[in-house]
Amino acid sequence: MLNPSKLAIGLEREGEEPIYRQLIRHIRSQIESGTLSAGTRLPASRDLAQQLNISRISVVNAYAELRAEGFLSAHAGRGTFIAGDANNPTAPSENGNGHVKTSTPEAPTTPDRSLREMMRMARKPGIISFAQGAPPGDFFPMQHLRDAINTVLDRDGAKAMSYEIAEGYAPLRSAVRDYVSGLGIHCSPDQVLITGGTQQACDMVVQALLSEGDLMVTENPTYLGMIDIARTRRVQLHGIDVDEQGIRLDMLENFILDNRPKLIYVMPTFQNPTGSVMPLHRRRQLLNLANHYQIPVLEDSVYHELRFEGESLPPLKALDDTGIVIHASGFTKMMLPGLRIGYIITDNHHYERLVRVKQAADISTPSLNQRTMHLMIQRGVLAQQLERNNRELKRRRDVAIAAATKHLPPGSRWTVPEGGLYLWVNLPKNGPTSAEVYITSIHMGAAYAIGSVFYTNSCGSHRMRINFGSQKPPEIEDGLKRIGRAWREVACDYEEMEKSPLL
Ligand SMILES: Cc1ncc(COP(=O)(O)O)c(C=O)c1O
Repeated sequence: MLNPSKLAIGLEREGEEPIYRQLIRHIRSQIESGTLSAGTRLPASRDLAQQLNISRISVVNAYAELRAEGFLSAHAGRGTFIAGDANNPTAPSENGNGHVKTSTPEAPTTPDRSLREMMRMARKPGIISFAQGAPPGDFFPMQHLRDAINTVLDRDGAKAMSYEIAEGYAPLRSAVRDYVSGLGIHCSPDQVLITGGTQQACDMVVQALLSEGDLMVTENPTYLGMIDIARTRRVQLHGIDVDEQGIRLDMLENFILDNRPKLIYVMPTFQNPTGSVMPLHRRRQLLNLANHYQIPVLEDSVYHELRFEGESLPPLKALDDTGIVIHASGFTKMMLPGLRIGYIITDNHHYERLVRVKQAADISTPSLNQRTMHLMIQRGVLAQQLERNNRELKRRRDVAIAAATKHLPPGSRWTVPEGGLYLWVNLPKNGPTSAEVYITSIHMGAAYAIGSVFYTNSCGSHRMRINFGSQKPPEIEDGLKRIGRAWREVACDYEEMEKSPLL
């Protein structure tokens, strides 16, 4: 029997292929070539991780994948072994270079890239996925959409297919002005800029206000899309811890004093991923701080209207009497993400620059989409949708909490969200991380968002984000049951691997 401590694996640390996939490839190829024979015990995940100087998540995931493929088997109390029928001559064979390299640390971007690659598995057919940030497709008002598109085409003809002005279709800007006045934001249509969703709104604000190398502050954890924007625009991003009331203002002020960031990005209502809501007093304090240090605040309000419980709070922009807040939102989570209609509300000094950024990005948001959205708002579809969807979201939230209570491991914690789409789960600290459970969960047919991808500093290892809105109640129950089973299986291996000494 081969001594597992002599497992020879050469890893390409700078390459595109994630480390855990390389491990799978190497172990599989050694099984197929006979180097590793049936019955050989593999090192415990922690030992192999140490030997190869890689993260333990990579080893746990590689073992889980190989187990699901039938190459490995786990035995209670004894460890992980090469399975009896592992020498499958039909399986494709690839050879590693056999060179053991243990001294180079893993490149800092690698775990993040691996986690994102893992999260793509959630799209496989047949998986009950809670991973995406999308509202559920069964909420979309398809008949209203069809009717509105037909009406616009009959009414406006070729105009609906022409370039629109960069600021946006004027009647839609007026409709947005009217709509946000119901939330307490008072502005003129000249302060409304139509964008390709809230994502583009955020990206445009970063482009307009920051240059390469400039620093912006976010909540930590924060919206993954903003982490992506900062990376692609080469802007530095610093996350400030949140508590149950949102961003910690004491830490924010200290950071501002030392570093003078150029922008503060926050999601005051139903923050993604935590679901938290910033109370009124903290909203006011944040504005005082921003005004005192003259740092613009980008308010991302895309979940604001998805409230199914509790009292609605004014957006920051409704409390802003100096123009320090740039408000970004959209009709995507509320109604139709694929129509890509978002908006920015800002005071005049940023407006002209933002219009130029929009013009440079894509000339204008498609006219047909803007006109269609305008008509749907006029016809009352948005109001009707919100009422119906929020009622159903509450039902799904309740089902998710009951299922999480029943199926997730004892010691798991979450706060009950009053709106939005997400349950932000904290798994017990003495068990496997959410990344370690992920591949097993995929094999059991359920996916979630791995919590650490939302952090700016690799925290959140035991966090997972569940989009309870995205599935119907029977699938919520079933999916959480599968995740709970996956956790138990990995937790069981985890203990066994810890107990088994190297041969
Ligand atoms: C906080 C936040 N902002 C913006 C977006 C992007 O939304 P949109 O579809 O409007 O571009 C998302 C989507 O997940 C989000 O969670």
